Amino acid sequence: MATLNNFQQAKPEKPKEEPLNYKQVALVLGATFILYFLIGSMKDNIREDISKIDKRIDYVLFQNASYEKNMKALSGTECGTCHLSPSMVLPKTTLSMTQFVAYVRGSNRFAQNSQMPKYDEKKFSDGDLERLWKGLY
Ligand code: HEC
Repeated sequence: MATLNNFQQAKPEKPKEEPLNYKQVALVLGATFILYFLIGSMKDNIREDISKIDKRIDYVLFQNASYEKNMKALSGTECGTCHLSPSMVLPKTTLSMTQFVAYVRGSNRFAQNSQMPKYDEKKFSDGDLERLWKGLY
């Protein structure tokens, strides 16, 4: 009998199974769902922000490229005294070469109460204006 008792004692004890704590389980599941949805909605916001930043960068690059063109074409000309300030960078609207020349000459001013001086052939030849147009548009 003694040997049998020893044998029984040597057997590893069965681990006690803890009963499921349903409150804790519910808490963990709840927290998991909340995190899942929070992260999901943050992802959408981040994506939106990135696309806004992308557009802004495109816009800044575009403005910068326009400004470079204006610097090249208008530096040292009378046009540059006005059109090299940031809000005056050309082109404002899409003009054909003929429309551009007519605008500068003053015969096709769609701007009402135009603040811009008119320029005749003596100040800027058609050739000068064509070169400017090619540089700007
Ligand atoms: C004294 C300042 C001044 C000077 C110098 C000047 N401009 Fe202007 N320009 C303006 C202003 C202000 C406008 C905005 C519309 C207006 O008032 O006619 C304008 C508008 C324009 C437009 C029309 C833009 C658009 O698409 O709406 C063109 C093209 C233009 N200028 C070209 C020239 C060229 C080329 C020269 C040089 C030959 C020149 N400008 C010189 C002030 C000036």
